[in-house]
Amino acid sequence: MTTASSPAPRGAFSSRLGFILAASGSAIGLGNIWRFPYVVGENGGAAFVLIYLAFVFLIGAAVMLAELALGRSTQRNPVGAFKAAAPGSLWRLVGLLGVITGVAILSFYGVIAGWTVGYFVKTVAGDFAHQMTADESTALFGTFVGSPATSVAYLAVFLAVTAFVVYGGIAGGIELVAKILMPVLFALLLFLAFRSVTLSGAGDGLRFYLAPDFSKITAQTFPAALGQAFFSLSLGMGAMITYGSYISKREHLVSAAGIVCFFDTLIALLAGLIIFPALFHAGLSPTSGVGLVFQVLPTLFAELPAGQLFGAAFFLLLAIAALTSTISLLEVPVSYVIDEWGWTRPRAVTVVTIATLIIGVPSALASGAVPFFSNLPGVGTDFLSLMSIIFGNYSLTIGSLGLALFVGYRWGITAASAEIEADGTPFRVRKAWGFLVRVVSPAGITAILIYIIATGNYF
Ligand code: TRP
Repeated sequence: MTTASSPAPRGAFSSRLGFILAASGSAIGLGNIWRFPYVVGENGGAAFVLIYLAFVFLIGAAVMLAELALGRSTQRNPVGAFKAAAPGSLWRLVGLLGVITGVAILSFYGVIAGWTVGYFVKTVAGDFAHQMTADESTALFGTFVGSPATSVAYLAVFLAVTAFVVYGGIAGGIELVAKILMPVLFALLLFLAFRSVTLSGAGDGLRFYLAPDFSKITAQTFPAALGQAFFSLSLGMGAMITYGSYISKREHLVSAAGIVCFFDTLIALLAGLIIFPALFHAGLSPTSGVGLVFQVLPTLFAELPAGQLFGAAFFLLLAIAALTSTISLLEVPVSYVIDEWGWTRPRAVTVVTIATLIIGVPSALASGAVPFFSNLPGVGTDFLSLMSIIFGNYSLTIGSLGLALFVGYRWGITAASAEIEADGTPFRVRKAWGFLVRVVSPAGITAILIYIIATGNYF
């Protein structure tokens, strides 16, 4: 392993809007539209949503600012950033955990992203064109994800497209896609939410989603909500360190972090407004797990005039939103091997993508194709869900704890604030932010981890 003593010339975002869109593009993805609804469904609804919101704004936003500042100051990948800010220390292991987590998340995220492409193809082919009952939709989903060849092929295709964009470097690929298509996705979500809340039976769905029943809170609610907050905001594995390293010094980091957190949360809340009314309308169960949105949505499109068109547009835009996220997941390990091992970009992209594909195969076979992966003996869940919990919840949570402690106590609030003020704007909420990074985040995260270890409710 070679240590990069002086940073190689880096790509950069061409404009302020470009960065905001790219960072929002990383944050907004399947985490908002696929993962948020099923995790809310599995954890009892509105009470979970409230806890989630508290975590986003008390812990997530502060950690995001910390990641961006560290990235911009050091101009490195996650491991390089820890090494540059604390030479010779073991803190770099936090960055390394992030790199490993990036590959692990991409391996199962790519499977779901592949499903969205598959559902786009099915919609265009007219598979959902007729009135669709909940049972039919569930059966269709089961057949689709239960086919081993299809699942693996879609995963491979999605990873190949991701690799193609990451190969092309920063500004050209990521910015362009994000700039044009994210607003279109937003408009479509608004429209679908409007249709969903006006369905008969929508009231039950809205109650489940918005009227908190605190008796539904369990030991699992807190790590699930915290993990979902980190997952949705792309925190805890250095994606925002890496993106931060590409932002110009003239950029105001506080407003950038605020805007990203705001839009990410807005999209997740909107997705819930689409899914829960439609779910209760169709008579599906909120605890269907990873298949939830794929089972609900075709029943909603069947209720729309020109449903086939809306359905096709939706799955296409969802696949693109997933792509702007998989790009950031792949960019982290790729920038690591380029900066730290001295590999060329083409070699880094090729090798990391192939490794991710191999790790992703069990996840692709975990929804019926192979019984062992679909119901892991002694675990009580399937391989994909297990990966989502281990890497999507715990690994990001531990990574964020490491980051908060590092920025709060090692790199220091003073150095971080100097970086945040580099654009010339005074950092007005510095004291509050320092308190969130040094005290609230580490204490909150540690309390949740201890609670989980004590109760033994890991999954
Ligand atoms: N935040 C993305 C989503 O919600 C997923 C994602 C992209 C991610 N990059 C990440 C999650 C880095 C954690 C860390 O779909």
